[in-house]
Amino acid sequence: MHACHIVKTSLLLACLSTMCWLTSCKKAEHTYKIGVSQCSADIWREKQNAELRMGAYLNDRTELRFAAAYDSDERQVQQIDSLVATGIDLLIVAPNQVATISPAIDRAYDSGLPVIVFERKTNSEKFTAFISADNYEMGRAMGLHIASRLGGHGHVLEVKGLEGSSPAIERHKGFTDAIKDYPGIVLDTVLQGDWTEESAYEAAKRYDGDLSAIDYVFGQNDRMAMGVRHAFVERGVKRLPLFCGIDGLPGPDGGIQLVEDSIFDATYIYPTHGDQLLSLAIEILDGKPYKKETRLMSALVTADNAYALQMQVDETMRQTAYLDQLHHRADNYLALLSTQRTIIVLTCSIIVLLLLLMVLYYLYHRGKITLRRERVVNNLWNLTEQPLQPVPQEPCQPDAQPVTAESEAGTTASDAPDDDVPENGADGNTGSTPSTAAGGSLFVGRFKEAVEKRLADSDLSIEDLAADMNLSRVQLYRKVKSITGSSPVELLRTARLNRAYQLLLTTDKTVSEVAYAVGFSAPSYFAKCFREEFGKSPTDIRQ
Ligand code: FRU
Repeated sequence: MHACHIVKTSLLLACLSTMCWLTSCKKAEHTYKIGVSQCSADIWREKQNAELRMGAYLNDRTELRFAAAYDSDERQVQQIDSLVATGIDLLIVAPNQVATISPAIDRAYDSGLPVIVFERKTNSEKFTAFISADNYEMGRAMGLHIASRLGGHGHVLEVKGLEGSSPAIERHKGFTDAIKDYPGIVLDTVLQGDWTEESAYEAAKRYDGDLSAIDYVFGQNDRMAMGVRHAFVERGVKRLPLFCGIDGLPGPDGGIQLVEDSIFDATYIYPTHGDQLLSLAIEILDGKPYKKETRLMSALVTADNAYALQMQVDETMRQTAYLDQLHHRADNYLALLSTQRTIIVLTCSIIVLLLLLMVLYYLYHRGKITLRRERVVNNLWNLTEQPLQPVPQEPCQPDAQPVTAESEAGTTASDAPDDDVPENGADGNTGSTPSTAAGGSLFVGRFKEAVEKRLADSDLSIEDLAADMNLSRVQLYRKVKSITGSSPVELLRTARLNRAYQLLLTTDKTVSEVAYAVGFSAPSYFAKCFREEFGKSPTDIRQ
């Protein structure tokens, strides 16, 4: 019972410590799942997504789920619905067009999800925050720049972005408002694009007006300005007009470089600021105060500042790449750490299990030995406590051999008497007649006395013992068996070993002397029997 309790406690402790260890490896905080629904996929969006990822590096409580609709309203509506269905905590969305995406955004917002609308607007008020640069202001700034570059006189071609998208509407409005004050600036033509280079290129190729009369091309973004330029070149226009666009991306193909290379006259930086977008998302999710509307600052890029800006942007990009490398390295270390941690946890669990098995094994054996010892003592010397049992009908086996310790050890049934031997005992009790407790205890006392007298006699046989007690061998067997549950040979053997145990503890006799003293003629055999009985060698007891 005690052993069982110890095992249970150690098992519980081991399980608890392993569980604590395993759970301590997990992230303690909840991870924010943020869905990002991009209306398009192009270099501007790629830059923004990279910045969002960079923001997530700094905040490892976030998991980003991206979707790109490739300028399709239908696809974006589906993507928003499925992002929401995956159980995101917040939605960031750049709606393709003002009206078409609003129902999906409203659904997300109505389901209780915080929604950040960025860069393009919806026609609904159902959003948590809005973040963008000022598209009207950008269009206006471009109008003023063009008017100034043309000295207030000239013909302009504008190519608009996707109809129905808020930047296209607002940039056009800002632009036309600005040139209103310059009557000499004529907006000859407005071509319809969809923000892609191809759309503007195709539109310019289809244009049937006089391209050579155009002094300035305003592309609502850099890619479309470039598309129109290609069409102009392809159509063999001798005197190319000036070109400007919006986006002002860094890098070799970006608008800033185009200005630096004098391919464009100007561009306007349309800030991506993905990291800022992510910070806003986390502020909202953390329940911190945040600005409902954020206007991102931007700037006009012309030949005057393109070089300086490019240098700055290059430096930022270099730092970003460096940070990215560092992050990857940290990621690798973390992965390594987690593998090592798993190995350590597994190894420790195995060690704990092995230790437990060893404890179990030890306790099992100790219990077994204790039980055996208790049985020996009970059987032999506390027999008055034993309930009396009917005599079992066992086959008799006449045996007049002396019961040396060696001869009885392996054949404990050899003292079982034959059935055909008469059953009446000298004391009047038959083997099958139940004895009384008092009678049993008296008989055992006599048996004990007979055994102890002859313990050192290695020639002692059960017949001798029976004769000492005025019984036949069969009567002795049945009587002893009925009272103790053990045969006389078994009792004799345990009595010998018990006495040996006692002698080892209380005398200076050598192991061999003890063996002889309790009726064993071979000390090595004695040692074997002793170990079997007590789980320890005689030498261990002596020590
Ligand atoms: C990127 C982009 C930009 C443009 C903006 C308008 O997808 O097409 O080039 O300035 O979207 O929303």
